[in-house]
Amino acid sequence: MTFHDDLALDERLDALDPLRHLMQQPSSSDTSEDEDESSRVQSAVESLIPKQRRSILNESLELSFSGLGEQEQHPIALSLAVDASPGCGGIAWPAGEVLSSYLAKRGPGYVRGRTILELGSGTGLVGLVAARLGCESVCITDQAPLLDIMRRNVRANALEESVSVAELNWGEPLPSDIGQAPDLILAADCVYFEPAFPLLVQTLAELVDLHSSSSSRPSSSPAYDSTRQELAPETETEILFCYKKRRKADKRFFSLLKKQFSWTEVEDDPDRAVYTREAISLLRLHRRGSGGGG
Ligand SMILES: C[S@@+](CC[C@H](N)C(=O)[O-])C[C@H]1O[C@@H](n2cnc3c(N)ncnc32)[C@H](O)[C@@H]1O
Repeated sequence: MTFHDDLALDERLDALDPLRHLMQQPSSSDTSEDEDESSRVQSAVESLIPKQRRSILNESLELSFSGLGEQEQHPIALSLAVDASPGCGGIAWPAGEVLSSYLAKRGPGYVRGRTILELGSGTGLVGLVAARLGCESVCITDQAPLLDIMRRNVRANALEESVSVAELNWGEPLPSDIGQAPDLILAADCVYFEPAFPLLVQTLAELVDLHSSSSSRPSSSPAYDSTRQELAPETETEILFCYKKRRKADKRFFSLLKKQFSWTEVEDDPDRAVYTREAISLLRLHRRGSGGGG
């Protein structure tokens, strides 16, 4: 079967069940690891967030994310309500776990003083980790059915002061309560539904472009300069995009993304080798034509 035949088959099956690939592991043609190695890696990736049934109803997970060095003694603890009834975002997904864990390893200095926005937050996990680390403010966003579980998770962790919850449908005008341009955009496990691919790219571009349209950036919220790996004023919004490859059609997302963004792999995550084997990538996106490199 050629690549195009595979893609056509994927598309026909997607038309019948748009979320079917979320429930599957990568097929044997997508992975070349032997089974022992693959189950060892699987258990390493699942060490933080226990396996959740896709039919899970109103349960709660107690999670802990460790930092590095001195921070290792003070892991980030969170209580997370999970409930699949409002949609697939109501449980915690593997790329969200990887991104949360990366933030915890970068530690409080990475988020301090920054304004953060998360797209497709689902339960809100990644944004809540950023808040627990001490970021200035984080807005966790998703579609209307997920807002209730996000709010419950904000309250359960007493993070109301720094976390706001907003409805943000990709491809629609940005909600007015987003206000200023975020310094850091987070997105995890948001590539899975082909009709939403162009909408997600459009929203990412519009959020980054808020910077060029805002007259000045407050000096208290510098952006992260990925080339120098440090905070620097007057650079573009940083985007951390964590993605799990599930099927060949995902290439279509990256073809669309390429028109507006370039990307680099995040290389300073000590767990990178582990999640790479699980087809998960952590990328830093750079808006084309904004002088952000990449
Ligand atoms: C697979 S879940 C990932 C949830 C969370 N980021 C995680 O890693 O656990 C994908 C999320 O994207 C959201 N989503 C899908 N299409 C969307 C759209 N058009 N606008 C906004 N959010 C959307 C879903 O509601 C869901 O919460």
